[in-house]
Amino acid sequence: MKILVTGANGMLGQDLCPALEDAGYTVIGASREILDITDKDNVKQVISDVLPNIIIHCAAYTNVEKAESEQNKAMLTNAEGTKYIAEACAEWDIPLVYISTDYVFDGSKTTPYKVTDKPNPINFYGMSKLRGEEFVKQYCSKYHIIRTSWLYGHHGKNFVETMLALKDKDEIRVVDDQIGSPTWTMDLSEAIVKIIKMPYGIYHASGEGETSWYGFAREILGADSNLIPCRSEEYKTEAKRPAYSVLENSFPCRNWKAALKDYMALRIEEETV
Ligand SMILES: NC(=O)c1ccc[n+]([C@@H]2O[C@H](COP(=O)([O-])OP(=O)(O)OC[C@H]3O[C@@H](n4cnc5c(N)ncnc54)[C@H](OP(=O)(O)O)[C@@H]3O)[C@@H](O)[C@H]2O)c1
Repeated sequence: MKILVTGANGMLGQDLCPALEDAGYTVIGASREILDITDKDNVKQVISDVLPNIIIHCAAYTNVEKAESEQNKAMLTNAEGTKYIAEACAEWDIPLVYISTDYVFDGSKTTPYKVTDKPNPINFYGMSKLRGEEFVKQYCSKYHIIRTSWLYGHHGKNFVETMLALKDKDEIRVVDDQIGSPTWTMDLSEAIVKIIKMPYGIYHASGEGETSWYGFAREILGADSNLIPCRSEEYKTEAKRPAYSVLENSFPCRNWKAALKDYMALRIEEETV
């Protein structure tokens, strides 16, 4: 069983490829250099050469802030790029797994978002990812759309590492009025390995439980750190973020605090080697 992974050099891709190999799959991890998803001919060429049994599409424009000023680039990558992949999957009857985001929702709910809830993104990144979902549904009959949230992992820039880098500052202000679920890319990778064997459709997979960015930061740095909670209005950003983007998981996932503990332990272990 051969799986082609796009965005294999990204934060999720680098944990997902080994997880798939451990599960017995032959993995072709495609970086941007091999497979630029915004180049339609390149997409067709690589997919027809490899003819995988499944494609897991992790490649994306992921800078939520910059997406507001680089709208064309975000749309070209997340929407058009996904369309090219979806078209090729339809042509060769290849099941497509599309990794999507909690930011397709507007955050007006106060209880976890179900897979049946209507998306209504409030920032451009969310809009471009939703357009990607729509193309997957339009072109493919065999697809898994997997929405996840607040990712962190050992192979990419993420909130945990940002907080750790700031730990010696006198004051660290973090928003306390955006609620979501932190998710370790290792846990998501395990979830993806299971989901690809499940019936086609939309799935939610994120750390179980919920917290604010401030609560997440406190768990990373400890209660005696120099963290100060603030409101979103006080922390000006280009992109609006949903106030509440907790996903109702499609199956039991690990609690976010337990996952973070393991991530931190592994991080220390790697530092001392
Ligand atoms: N990070 C989060 O908090 C989060 C939350 C929910 C959902 N997601 C979704 O999860 C997936 C994985 O995210 P991640 O955190 O692993 O992101 P990431 O670290 O930014 O990885 C994305 C990868 O996509 C590649 N890429 C960008 N444009 C490309 C193109 N035109 N052709 C081919 N590859 C391209 C990037 O390559 P370069 O390194 O060369 O730019 C990068 O390796 C994405 O679909 C994202 O939307 C992420």
